Amino acid sequence: MTTETKPAYSPGLAGVIAGETQICWVDPNAGLAYRGYDIHEMGEKATFEEVAYLLLNGELPNAKQLADFTRAIGSERQIPQPVTQMLGLLPKETHPMDMVRTGVSMLGPFDPELNDHSHDANIRKAMRLIARVSTLITDGWRIAHNEKPIPEKPELTLAANLFYKLTGEVPPDWKTRMMDTIFNLYADHEFNASTFAARVTASTMADMYAAVTSACGTLKGPLHGGANEESMKMLEEIKTADRAEGWLMDRLAKKAKIMGFGHRVYKTGDSRVPIMREIGRDLGKRTGKEEWVPICEELERVMEREKQLYCNVDLYAAPVLTMLGFNFALNTPIFAASRVAGWCAHVVEQHDHNRLIRPRSLYTGAEDRKYPGPPK
Ligand code: COA
Repeated sequence: MTTETKPAYSPGLAGVIAGETQICWVDPNAGLAYRGYDIHEMGEKATFEEVAYLLLNGELPNAKQLADFTRAIGSERQIPQPVTQMLGLLPKETHPMDMVRTGVSMLGPFDPELNDHSHDANIRKAMRLIARVSTLITDGWRIAHNEKPIPEKPELTLAANLFYKLTGEVPPDWKTRMMDTIFNLYADHEFNASTFAARVTASTMADMYAAVTSACGTLKGPLHGGANEESMKMLEEIKTADRAEGWLMDRLAKKAKIMGFGHRVYKTGDSRVPIMREIGRDLGKRTGKEEWVPICEELERVMEREKQLYCNVDLYAAPVLTMLGFNFALNTPIFAASRVAGWCAHVVEQHDHNRLIRPRSLYTGAEDRKYPGPPK
């Protein structure tokens, strides 16, 4: 049966270069750059719209381009009425990430440019998706909690709007600034699992909504985006820093995976952690909830000692989002509200230079069996 030599194989595609990109570079030695700009230099200064523009267009916007882009995103937030109605038809206990995935899928046919995969049409669709994923989150959350969606305030930036559409209150500037930074840290991460899923889908020349639907489904898992929700459940279970070591040693003895630790690419620490940790400290002081960061730090200390493993951004994103007032079920959707910019940029790049992504598998099944004929 063997007709070919055994191909090279890397389980989980670890270390495999699966394509080229000009969007983002993850440096295994704790670095992250979007289009060549170090995220540590721009993450805390740029608005999310500026980062999204950069990811999509390849260059930073000038003041007019940024104002136009921000205005356009603001004016595209309203989702079609049937999509709002659909959110109300889902069971009340539907996870917000499932609402987002279903909503993105349903938004597709309402986009008049759905099947136009030209560069310009893809950029316009990307802007609509960036605007509307946030609306699916906020309106879906309110509908699931028997509250009416709040009418849009198009003049708000995406970061401010997320708070406003959930609570009805325009946030203070410092909260919006923090949200922009969180969005900026989450916006892209080269061929992570959800982006790769989006690119695989796009590589069949399926549309951007199909690709982003694939990405949403992939982000949900706890080994990827779902880790920021699971990390919060873990921190709530631990409760205080003095319980962290005992809790962790018990889990490690049971060979459990510890959420918010480990990374496929970063082996000496996640480049996004120092900024997220600082936001956590700042928020602890502002909100009087100073217990979360010390728990994370204790987990970091023991994990490094026991397993030589470092935390990833989701460990600190979890308490940060909690201290900003979000229910932990919204942690992964908030990640999606940002990563959608990266997903769309990758779909544009894939469609612009497409080659079908179709790897091989290593066959390990039964060999050379004779078919005995249909069952008698
Ligand atoms: N908790 C406990 N042990 C972990 C671990 C974790 N979070 N992450 C990795 N390890 C261990 C593995 O069990 C393995 O140990 P072994 O060699 O004794 O079997 C070793 O570290 C190497 O890990 P590996 O499975 O090769 O890592 P990976 O690249 O396949 O997986 C993740 C990467 C992110 C999926 C993995 O670290 C993980 O599940 N983390 C928790 C979920 C999470 O935080 N995800 C968000 C990522 S940004």
